[in-house]
Order: sequence, then structure tokens, then C-alpha cells
Amino acid sequence: IKKIGVMTSGGDSPGMNAAIRSVVRTCAFHKIECVGIYRGYEGMIEGDFISLDARSVKGIINKGGTFLKSARSKEFMTKEGRQKAYNALKAANIDAMVTIGGDGTFTGALVFNKEFNFPIMGIPGTIDNDIFGTSHTLGYDTALNTVVDVIDKIRDTASSHNRLFFIEVMGRDAGHIALNAGVGAGAEEILIPEEDLGLERLVDSLLRSKKSGKSSSIVVVAEGDKTGKNVFELKDYVNENMPEYDVRVSVLGHLQRGGSPSCFDRVLASRMGVRAVEDLINGKSNYMVGLLNDKINVTPLEQAVKGKSEINKELIRVSDIMST
Ligand code: F6P
Repeated sequence: IKKIGVMTSGGDSPGMNAAIRSVVRTCAFHKIECVGIYRGYEGMIEGDFISLDARSVKGIINKGGTFLKSARSKEFMTKEGRQKAYNALKAANIDAMVTIGGDGTFTGALVFNKEFNFPIMGIPGTIDNDIFGTSHTLGYDTALNTVVDVIDKIRDTASSHNRLFFIEVMGRDAGHIALNAGVGAGAEEILIPEEDLGLERLVDSLLRSKKSGKSSSIVVVAEGDKTGKNVFELKDYVNENMPEYDVRVSVLGHLQRGGSPSCFDRVLASRMGVRAVEDLINGKSNYMVGLLNDKINVTPLEQAVKGKSEINKELIRVSDIMST
């Protein structure tokens, strides 16, 4: 392998820049050329590339987002699109790539590898932590810290005004952010897609909280929660059934995806980048680099895409006990 391409695709996450930096510097260390591919598969199709050396990635380990930019490409889902991408890579003499992203990114990578036998290693980058084969995806730890920080602030208002807040957090179909940030911020209830706790339980829990002397409450709701009601409908429901509550809603949105990566994410990104490049050099392909029991490991991309990343059920019980 003489030239490796690196790209970020799908939703951005803090730590992507640190991972790009690691890929570029590991290539430089092993005297391999490195090329940045702009805007994920979109830029690959258009041949939007930039040569990167060790110095091109200075000063970015602490930056959120991705300087290579990211996109979700419709054209790459077509055979013609993938053929164009392959032609562009070949024209630039790129003979392997590291792709940083989530589920959709890896699904695209698998199809591409099957069609063109192009060597690929994946690095999981998403705040959702919804990828099988790693305990942590890049950006998840930073997002948790951001969410906890914001909930702490909202709690100031909740307790000053004796209010109940429904706070919606991201995570797509997964409840990792809600569950962990909820426990970390001391939420009274946490609603996640993996366990439908039901509305009755929510009402019971709120009534119990009130009886036990609590004057304010925080309910963290994962955006993919399955109660069948979104945060605004939950507010209406409580207004109707428990008019004594003064309810507010806060949807945290994209602030959860931004910001400087935590130390954990920077270190993880650095470790993952080294492993991805060195595995490509050693002839490996079609694996995702992950972290399990604090060891860097690899999982076949196919399993990473098909497998389910389980939530930590122990945390549900911990949360129940903590909100006594
Ligand atoms: O996958 C990351 C994520 O932020 C999810 O948590 C969320 O559901 C989705 O992306 C939002 O996507 P977009 O930025 O396209 O609105």
C-alpha cells in the first residue's frame, strides 16, 4: 500500500478531526502518502481530494466537527455513483482507505468493497454510540459531557421555579446518551427506545417524587423513545393529568454534536487511527476498529453493521434507585 485515503461521512462528531490527524500522522510515520477526501462519499465521487502530510493536521486535535467536512450521499447508493468514486480513487492512485462514520458509512463501505475489492478500515464516529463492536464511538463521551453540563444548567431553573422539565436528547434509535447523561445529571426519569416504560409508570413516578418532597423534576427523553409521544405531547399529557405541575420542554438538538472533544475522545481517536492504518499496511481490510475493555480491537465491518449495541441495563436499575 502506497497511498491511503481518509474521509468522514454521516453526522459529524467531536473527535473526527483527532482521528484524521492520527491517520495522517501514522501514514507519515510509515512513509505512506495520505489523501483527504472531502465531504465523504460525495467528495469521493467528484474526486475532491487533498494531499495531507504530518503538518497539514496541526492544531486540530482539539477542534470539533471535521475539517474534511461530511455529507450523506444519495449518489453513492447507486452503482453508477460508486463506479465514479472508484474511478476517482484509481485516478489519484489511492489504494486503500480509512472511513470514519457510523452505520450508513460502513454499509456504503461494505458494498463498495464487495464491488471493487477495495481495502477499507472503518473508525466509528458518531455521538449515538450505536455501533456493535465498540464500547465507545468517537464523540459519544464528549456529547455526554455536553448534555450533562446543559442539564445541570436547566436544573437551576427547574428548582428555582419548581418546574418539571422534559429534555429531549439525540441518539437516533438508541438510548445510550439519554441513559448515561440521565444518570450523570441525576434525572428523575429516563425514557429510552430500548425499554418502553410506559406513560403510567411515568405518571406514577412523578407523583411519587412529589409526595417524597421533590419540588422539581427532570425527565430525559431519548429522541427515539417509544412511549408514542414526543416531548411536546408528553408536556400536554402531564398538563392534562397533573395540572399541579408547571411543565417546560427543552430540545437540546445539534449543540450535542459540537464542541471540543474530551480527552477521552482525543486519546481514543489517536489509538483508533494508528490501528486502522497499521492494519491496512498489514493487509487487513473490511474491519472496524473498536474499543472493548479498554483494548483496541477489530470487528468485521459486516458484524459492526448487523450487530446491535446493547444498552447497559444495570443503569436502568441504578437510575430507579437514585430517583427514590
Ligand atoms: O447520528 C447522529 C445524529 O445527531 C442523531 O443523534 C440524530 O438523530 C441525527 O444525527 C440528526 O441528523 P441531522 O444532523 O441530519 O439532522
